Parts: sequence; C-alpha cells; structure tokens
Amino acid sequence: MKKVTIIGLGYVGLPLAILLAKNNYNTYGYDISEKIVKKTNKGISHIQDKYLQSELSNLKNKIIATTDPKEALNDTETIVVCVPTPIDKNHLPDLTALKSASTTISKHLKKGTLVIIESTIAPGTCEEIVKPILEKSNLKIDKDFFLAHCPERIDPGNTKFLLEDLPRVIGGSSQKAIELAHTFYSSIIKADIMRVSSLKAAEAIKIVENSFRDINIAFVNELAKSFDKLDIDVTEVIKGASTKPFAFMPHFPGVGVGGHCISVDPYYLIDKASSHGFNHEFMRLARKINNSMPSYTIERTMHALQKINKTLNETTITVLGVAYKKNVDDPRESPALKLIEKLKQLKCNFKIYDPYLPNSSTVKSLDAALENECIILCTDHDEFLKIKPSQLKTVKVFIDGRNCMDKKMFKSLEIEYLGIGRQ
Ligand SMILES: NC(=O)c1ccc[n+]([C@@H]2O[C@H](COP(=O)([O-])OP(=O)(O)OC[C@H]3O[C@@H](n4cnc5c(N)ncnc54)[C@H](O)[C@@H]3O)[C@@H](O)[C@H]2O)c1
Repeated sequence: MKKVTIIGLGYVGLPLAILLAKNNYNTYGYDISEKIVKKTNKGISHIQDKYLQSELSNLKNKIIATTDPKEALNDTETIVVCVPTPIDKNHLPDLTALKSASTTISKHLKKGTLVIIESTIAPGTCEEIVKPILEKSNLKIDKDFFLAHCPERIDPGNTKFLLEDLPRVIGGSSQKAIELAHTFYSSIIKADIMRVSSLKAAEAIKIVENSFRDINIAFVNELAKSFDKLDIDVTEVIKGASTKPFAFMPHFPGVGVGGHCISVDPYYLIDKASSHGFNHEFMRLARKINNSMPSYTIERTMHALQKINKTLNETTITVLGVAYKKNVDDPRESPALKLIEKLKQLKCNFKIYDPYLPNSSTVKSLDAALENECIILCTDHDEFLKIKPSQLKTVKVFIDGRNCMDKKMFKSLEIEYLGIGRQ
C-alpha cells in the first residue's frame, strides 16, 4: 500500500483522507490540533456532516491521524497540504499555516516525494514561498522532489457533488511533477483532470473561480439595494432573467458573503497584483459591496420596525443562523457574526440560535428563539425553512436575510416582512 500524508484535517483535508483510505492508500493525517487527531482516530468526524461521519465510521483505523510529524511523514510518497490560508484584520493574506506546514515537511522530506498544495493561494506562492522552504531540506526541486498545485473545489454540505466527481486542474514545478500529480489524482478522482502550464496558472484558476462568484453576488446585492428603492422584487427579476437559456447565470442577494473561500480568496489576488503595481478596482468594489450587506440588513430591520413604531433598542431581536451557509457548522467570516457585532455596538437586546453551532447560540431551540418580536434570518438552514405560523405568535417583524421564506405566510399573519431586495 502506498503511503500518503495529508497535512491539515479540516473541511478539505478530512474528506480527502477519507477518499484516499477508501481507495486503499496507507493514509496518514498530520494536524496540530490534538482534538481533531483524537476524534479522527476514534472514527468521529469533527465536522458536523452526516456523509463524513458515516464514511469515517466505516474507515476506523484506516486513517492514522497524528500530531507527530515524523510518524506522519516518514517514508511517505505523496504529501498533500490542506492547511488554512485566511486573511488578517487588514484583509491581507496570512500564510502562517502554509509556511509552518512547509517547514515541517522540509524537515522530513525524502528523495522522490511529491508535495501537493491544495490550499488556496495567490499566483506565485508555490514558487516564491513554498519551494524555498522545502529546499531548506537540502533537496533540489525537480531533481530530488516534486511540487504540484491542485486547488480544492469541495463544497461542504453539498451532497450533489462528491469530491471524487469534481473535475480538477493541476499545475507543477515541471512536466514530471504534473504527471506524478495526474497519476495520483487519477487513482481517486473519476472526473476530468486538466493539466495547466504552470503552478501560477493553477493557483490563479482557483482565485478566479471564487472571485467570479464574489463579483456576481456583489452585482445582485447592488441590484437588491436599488430595487428596494424602486419597489421591485429582485428574486423575481433574477428568476425571470434565468429563463434566458444562455449568457445569464443566477446569483442571489443576501445578508452578505462568508466562509473561508469566497470572502477571502479575492484579497489574495488583490494583494498580489497590488505588489506588482496593478489595482483590482472591480474586485475591491465587489468586496466592499458584499461587506456592506450586514449593515444594510440592519437598515432593513430599522425600516421594518418603523412600521410598528419601534426602534432597534425598543425591541427584542433574534438572529437565526450563524453559519456562513445552509446546513453547515462553519462560522468563518460569516456575515451573521458581523451583524451580531453591529447589534452589540448599537446596544441591542438580542438572542442567537443556530442548530449547527450550539456554542454560538444563546438559546437551545428554535421555539425559544422565535419567542421575540423581531427576527433576523441570516442562514437558510433547512430547520428555518420549516417555520410554521403557530411558531410565530410573538413575532411582529421578520427580516429574511436569505430571501428564502414564503413571504405570503408573513403577510397573512400581518407580520412586517422584508427581504434583501424583496418587499
Ligand atoms: N472550506 C472550504 O470549503 C474550502 C474549499 C476549497 C478550498 N479551500 C481551501 O483549503 C484550505 C483549507 O481550508 P479548510 O476549510 O479545510 O480549513 P480548516 O481550518 O477547516 O482546516 C485546516 C486544518 O489544518 C490544521 N492546521 C493548521 N496549521 C497547521 C499546520 N501548520 N500543520 C498541520 N496542520 C495544520 C488545522 O488544525 C485544521 O484542522 C484553505 O486554503 C482554503 O482556502 C477550502
């Protein structure tokens, strides 16, 4: 059995480790978190996800998770790096985990090893940051070891697209690196695997995919603000435009963009291009618009409260949902957190409920959460979509930050309902 080592067993690394173990690789996972290592070795998924949990239960003892780099990296043939690449408070790339993982690898690197970076990084990072650290091992790239970049496209919580069914792109430090990585991924991925001409091109592809989404969401968020003034339902317009069979792709407005990818990755390219003398005005504007949406949602709340002659400080508010998207337990960069921060600054009285994030919730059940006058929905978890009139007895204002609820139900109950671009 070929030994493979995953560095970082998070939303990207854990599903990959599972897929490798299922394909009979001698799978090791190295992580700095003792908690994650312990849970993985017990066959417990540290991520709330039914699919991952059932797969991991069947694979008990087939993935060896460890905090010991020597155990993880000794005599391994392939190393896949899946560590976080966040931004700091100034929206600048934070490569601490990537540099630290590369340093760990360099201390244990053996001749012939293929190192693959799956973490999302700016074009040039493999060449300028990872390669020099790996070469501190005294091994030479493309002579003694090989470096490839294969950006991850997994969509946590999405059961329609499994990891093995997603097409991939690969760039490498040399043709040999590309071919080694291609052979590796071909052994686990059923979909197409495209070779690209350089590490840089592969790095750029991932950032472009997520920036494309960020820009399109910013466009519809701007439309939402405009259509609120014009009294037009933006979701109806987007659905109408989507009937055009070509050249239109629906995106929907909301309380904001979160998660470790779409709200982060554009900053990596903005920063990289800026260091080379180019200013990404369009991408910066998209980030600015999307970052303004939690405040806009509060403005909508104030507007709806005016209709019942109340202000934010004269009511009791519930924030429904903290996760950045539906049916996941990930709050990273979530617009709900930014909205909660603003409610705190405004000294509002509020409760929080997210069934996936009990530690971030201040109440234990949806019914307890709904016992308030004003509700702001930030995440379209399935549990919230099933809210019934009988649960809304005390509610007078409902702000639908995901435009996901049946507005007729609220109107029939004489509850002031406002969405984002939806009246
Ligand atoms: N989450 C997604 O949906 C997604 C999708 C595609 C790509 N990505 C990219 O994949 C990368 C990983 O994202 P994620 O969401 O899996 O992150 P995560 O935070 O869920 O997991 C990262 C793991 O790496 C571990 N770690 C941190 N530093 C380490 C180190 N020096 N050595 C070993 N382990 C270390 C952490 O303990 C954690 O378990 C990021 O670059 C992200 O942009 C994420």
